[in-house]
Amino acid sequence: MVRHGQSEWNLKNLFCGWYDAQLSDKGVQEARTAGRSLKNLAYCFDIAYTSMLSRAQDTLQLILCEMGVADLPVEKTWRLNERHYGGLTGLNKVETAEKYGEEQVAIWRRSFDVPPPPMEKDHPYHDMIVKDPRYANEPKEGEFPMFESLKMTIARTLPFWNGTVVPRILSGDQVLIAAHGNSLRGIVKHLDDLNEEQIMKLNLPTGIPFVYNLDCDMKPTNPGSFGSFQFLGDEETVRKAMEAVANQGKIKK
Ligand code: 3PG
Repeated sequence: MVRHGQSEWNLKNLFCGWYDAQLSDKGVQEARTAGRSLKNLAYCFDIAYTSMLSRAQDTLQLILCEMGVADLPVEKTWRLNERHYGGLTGLNKVETAEKYGEEQVAIWRRSFDVPPPPMEKDHPYHDMIVKDPRYANEPKEGEFPMFESLKMTIARTLPFWNGTVVPRILSGDQVLIAAHGNSLRGIVKHLDDLNEEQIMKLNLPTGIPFVYNLDCDMKPTNPGSFGSFQFLGDEETVRKAMEAVANQGKIKK
């Protein structure tokens, strides 16, 4: 699995969610580096899954091109989209911390079941997202989120994980998923059986793949330093990248 490379809105430290931000130049390089790592380590995939958002789709395509498998089957689903940040979408994370406090921003970003405020119809990005033709067929009526807690995100990601990904893995396929910080945190919470306190502490860096080896009961078999998965990067680089993500919501002293 891999969180998309740095996006233009990550670079500006804006709450992004379902806004379709593009990859920054750094994010493109992160994706290419991830592809080279996977190729050098001789990873071989049977299928790839990604979200409906460009930053994840473009990360995946850059990875596949670097691996020399640009024609690998790819399936896209809204169920892998980033958590919907609701009314926070487009706000700067530090300015939001200055207005509401770092603790409230940390709760909005990392808690399990505290949702952000909803995206109202007059929100500057409401129509751009809701009327986007990519969502013409899915989500179904009544499923289209206006805000999501991690719990709500997991509730719409797991049906895809259990219904589509698990059967593939149990059939012996190797699967690559390029998605988002919070949709992937939901899958990690599920696979590692993390409690609400543990998941609050997990920040996934952009563009650094992490690997699960799963047994026939879909239980992880390769414990690593950060959980039951292994990052394809040196531990210090990964730790610094995770810390940088955590600090996005903190006021600069
Ligand atoms: C966003 O949607 O803002 C980011 O992609 C994830 O943000 P977070 O790390 O603040 O949850």
